[in-house]
Amino acid sequence: MLHLSSISDIRQQTELLRRQGKRIGFVPTMGALHEGHLTLVRAARHQNDITVCSVFVNPAQFNNPEDYRLYPRILEKDAQMLAQEGCDILFSPAAEEMYRQTPRLHFDFGELEQVMEGAHRPGHFNGVATVVSKLFHLVKPHQAFFGQKDLQQFAVIQQLVLDLSFDLELVCYPIIREEDGLAMSSRNRRLAPEQRAVAPRLYQALQLLREKLETLPVPAAKQEAEAFLQRFPQIKLEYLEVVHAQTLQPLQEVGQGAPVALCLAAFLGEVRLIDNLLL
Ligand code: PAF
Repeated sequence: MLHLSSISDIRQQTELLRRQGKRIGFVPTMGALHEGHLTLVRAARHQNDITVCSVFVNPAQFNNPEDYRLYPRILEKDAQMLAQEGCDILFSPAAEEMYRQTPRLHFDFGELEQVMEGAHRPGHFNGVATVVSKLFHLVKPHQAFFGQKDLQQFAVIQQLVLDLSFDLELVCYPIIREEDGLAMSSRNRRLAPEQRAVAPRLYQALQLLREKLETLPVPAAKQEAEAFLQRFPQIKLEYLEVVHAQTLQPLQEVGQGAPVALCLAAFLGEVRLIDNLLL
């Protein structure tokens, strides 16, 4: 596996590969890789000639400096895992390399980012869109793979690709869960044992919400799921929403043929986790 960290090197490589007519599959990540990422890497390999994975903890998308500082960084282990999975190129630039100057461009995704993650993490999607645009320019992928856990991120990136005419296909893969139902996330590494023990309650709340929506109106079903989570004092719910799975706008009722997503974000101590369920 080729391990590159400079913009000029990755550009040179991907230009060469494109000239050779190779199809490039790309998995952008922030590292601390888990089975969810590896599923994306396998899919990228399966459907392309060359697999590129980036590991870059993007400072521009963190609204909380502590979260950025404490984000798990285990590049050597990530590189080993990627090499084992048959990844061809790992791109892991330093922050100074990716941001030689502070970007002036600002993205506005309108109502898509005025809810949930966008509403609670000011500037987050601007940072995501900035780095993803840069990475798409550098890697020049034919396909780019993302996880459904970041459902709103995927919707924002779909809009980005559409608005800026990036010539690539976006692929979204389902959430990979631990045996007890907890959605895999790099942040799970930061959970203390007692927080980890209670973390599967988040998925259980989503499952309960799904069940309650079969008989109750949206507000009453949400109340039941919120009451369930309140039984666990370690969990501080930030939001629990029933939304249209594409526009991400809150739904007052379900069952009218619209695709529905149940989404939540919660703090366990300082660790913020998100999860969702598509109906
Ligand atoms: O989902 C992530 O890991 C990040 O938001 C991404 C897409 C790699 C951009 O930094």
